[in-house]
Amino acid sequence: MAELAILGGEKTREEKYPSWPVYDERDIEAVTRVVRSGHWGGYPYPGVETKRFIDSFLEMQGGNYGVLMMNGTVTMEIALRAAEVGWGDEVLVPAYTFQATAAAPMAAGAIPIIVDIDPHTYCIDPKAAEAAITERTRAIIPVHLGAQMADMDAIMALAEKYNLIVVEDCAHAHGAKWRGQGAGTIGHFGSFSMQSSKTMTAGEGGLLICRDQEMAYRAMSLIDCGRPHDPDGTMFTMGANYRVSELQAALLNVAIERFPAQAKQREELAAYMDEALSEVSGVRVLPRDPRHTTRSFYCYVFAIDPETFGADHDVVCAALHMEGIPNWEGYEAMNRYELFQPHLSKLAVPSAFPDKFQFEGMSLPEAVRACEHEAVWFGESIFRSSREGVDDAVSALRKIQERLSQDPGAAAEIRRLLAEYHE
Ligand SMILES: Cc1ncc(COP(=O)(O)O)c(C=O)c1O
Repeated sequence: MAELAILGGEKTREEKYPSWPVYDERDIEAVTRVVRSGHWGGYPYPGVETKRFIDSFLEMQGGNYGVLMMNGTVTMEIALRAAEVGWGDEVLVPAYTFQATAAAPMAAGAIPIIVDIDPHTYCIDPKAAEAAITERTRAIIPVHLGAQMADMDAIMALAEKYNLIVVEDCAHAHGAKWRGQGAGTIGHFGSFSMQSSKTMTAGEGGLLICRDQEMAYRAMSLIDCGRPHDPDGTMFTMGANYRVSELQAALLNVAIERFPAQAKQREELAAYMDEALSEVSGVRVLPRDPRHTTRSFYCYVFAIDPETFGADHDVVCAALHMEGIPNWEGYEAMNRYELFQPHLSKLAVPSAFPDKFQFEGMSLPEAVRACEHEAVWFGESIFRSSREGVDDAVSALRKIQERLSQDPGAAAEIRRLLAEYHE
């Protein structure tokens, strides 16, 4: 049996997968155009490049009003503040996400309430969300994680029943659709990140889609130092400068031209991956909900069965990496997240509501299973390569499964190497 690369054997793949971000002369020309124009910043809001990008994005994604800003964290803070969700209000967030989803409500003065996930999608579990609702619950932030979408039918039904504001965290879901409707246009707000790793990027950036015109005016004012943006010029807010620069918007105007072809290729190879992976023992492909009509994704996430693999996902991911396959074990569960430990800070919200931040006592079994044992995230670059690139990723996984399941000593050795590496 072939030895694993991490234990000194040959790598499955020597060839590098395509790098990210992609750029060409068009990006250089776009930035040069802005440099020469002398209008580099985001004031007055919106600038020419910013306005053009917002219009193109809404044309692609759907939705009524767009506000471009610094990143995909402030988008969620601004959405909550525009909807007047604030001090002491509770906001439901999934236990499996980047820390931004919980940091944003705190920045708005609200309390993030961590809710367990649905093991089929790894997105927020609507039943667990309903069980967490109190008289202080004002909003919910479903995250469309990896290559999945949260069950938007169930979430919108909850929102109607309990009068909640819905902010869709679409940092991973540019181009995705639910029943033919763009992610981020189903709830009251849709928040998109254009940070470096995202599938449409200017290095940093965030776009907020607003369903309602008045919310959009308020969001524009909040990101533009409080200046009014309504036609009467009377809607002032306690805003600050969260604007994006025209240089970034110019890059986004090129990125969006490339996006449809990239998304199409990713989806074609993801469908090929679904089939190929389902034949590897101990792999659970996350099922595709038929209501998720267009899959357009950030990373391809699946689950391994640690018993069949003879190891947890961290060992498998390290072995995959050394086989030449870009991958990641994903986020930690929100209550264990090293970047999100509010008791270590003097932030106002955790200090004022310490009983809501008792992380040790939280029971989030599905998130813990995904985060500590079974989730594997394949990098999107695999899905911009070729069928051969997908085959290599699957062969590497099969090789790892066969080797580890037949020799418990191999997993122990990898774990020892990992501990040594982290020291
Ligand atoms: C799920 C999720 N939400 C929000 C964000 C925040 O976006 P940004 O980095 O643009 O603030 C990210 C990633 O960075 C993310 O992965």
